[in-house]
Amino acid sequence: MPATVICGLQWGDEGKGKATDLLSADVSAVVRYQGGDNAGHTVVVGDEVFKLHLVPSGVLHEHITPIVGPGVVVNPRTLLTEMQMLNERGIATAKLRVSNAAHVIMPYHVALDAAREGAAADSGAAIGTTRRGIGPAYGDRAWRSGIRMGDLLEPDLLRSRLAAAVAEKNALLASYGAATFALDDLLALALDWGRQLAWAITDTTALVQGSLARGEHVLFEGAQGTMLDLDHGTYPYVTSSNPIAGGACTGGGIGPLQVDQVLGIMKAYSTRVGAGPLPTELKDAVGEHLTEKGHEYGTTTGRRRRSGWLDFVPLRYAVQVNSVNTLMLNKIDILSGLPQVKVCTGYRVDGMLVDSWPLNVAQLERAEPVYETLEGWSEDLSACRSVADLPAAARRYVAAIEERAGAPIDVISVGPERNQTLMVNSGSVLGARRRAGAAA
Ligand code: IMP
Repeated sequence: MPATVICGLQWGDEGKGKATDLLSADVSAVVRYQGGDNAGHTVVVGDEVFKLHLVPSGVLHEHITPIVGPGVVVNPRTLLTEMQMLNERGIATAKLRVSNAAHVIMPYHVALDAAREGAAADSGAAIGTTRRGIGPAYGDRAWRSGIRMGDLLEPDLLRSRLAAAVAEKNALLASYGAATFALDDLLALALDWGRQLAWAITDTTALVQGSLARGEHVLFEGAQGTMLDLDHGTYPYVTSSNPIAGGACTGGGIGPLQVDQVLGIMKAYSTRVGAGPLPTELKDAVGEHLTEKGHEYGTTTGRRRRSGWLDFVPLRYAVQVNSVNTLMLNKIDILSGLPQVKVCTGYRVDGMLVDSWPLNVAQLERAEPVYETLEGWSEDLSACRSVADLPAAARRYVAAIEERAGAPIDVISVGPERNQTLMVNSGSVLGARRRAGAAA
């Protein structure tokens, strides 16, 4: 049985949590492979809404082992709080496993994120991060001065690594005029985290490899989206990890040939939270319609998301870079009520027509979208249960996406509930179709 990667094709918030939930029945483990508690996955099960930031959303199913992989940055405080919330709502977390190699977000990372963003805001250069310490923690990983989850179990090692880090971080924090940290306080906190989480910390790569060797289906759950990828997104307005499907290899503990299926998740329009270019952004009544009707407010920070028309330039790029072989189209119901819907097919940059991703963020900021206009529809789609139930104009919108995106749409979502899901091509994605099968 296969390894399936679920990844976002836009700027995050595409509805990956619902995709994980839909696939969960035949899955034995769900692995988070990057990011940290900057993510927000909303899963609706019946009347219950679960908002998860760090624990993989597979936790909602008893048969699934939720795994936090080596590519994740873990704030143990968030992890413990989230586990407690789940336990209080009757969800067991005893099967949760956390990679010994995942890096720890320490309080100084959070403080540095806030200090740096605060200082940058004064000069109009802020990224608009979630201020969860994600960038500073990944920075320490690259500088080899990070603390890993496995280190929390080794007091002497922890003390010496923390001592080196704290001296450096305090100097940096002081340069921003921010409060500094005492080594002994941090050491006590980190040791306590280690004691509370020791049972869960393990070599998750061995777990994942064991599951795949036994023929089990393992799901790799990306956070954020391709346009927020450190290397493939709108740098520097990106997160500090690799949400693309390739991130599942480095951050999840599998090799490229072990990936059988890549399910790309996209929304029927564009949204972005935080700073950075969004070429099709709408600051008019249509933008307001998309943000408000789509409840486009951040799960983690509550920030209002910017909205705009669907943009095929980044979408085509994302389908390629993730080697997406099946698409899930979410939130098409939100477009109901718009007399016309537009899709961006290319940009005009400095007078030149381009249909590929510009070479730098300055060009992207100057990019003027070139639109194709399609007929809208007024019908409410939330009660549709099959593609045939969709109005003709909505079906044409779906066909236009499929034609231009470069991958088949196998699932369409018309609302947050599990039953508001339309299967296309017999929902072959749920049968974990192999790439070769998709090409046939
Ligand atoms: P960071 O990941 O907190 O460093 O933030 C970097 C950028 O990624 C900012 O623009 C955030 O708004 C954005 N971002 C981080 N996590 C998410 C997410 O889960 N959904 C959407 N945007 C996100």
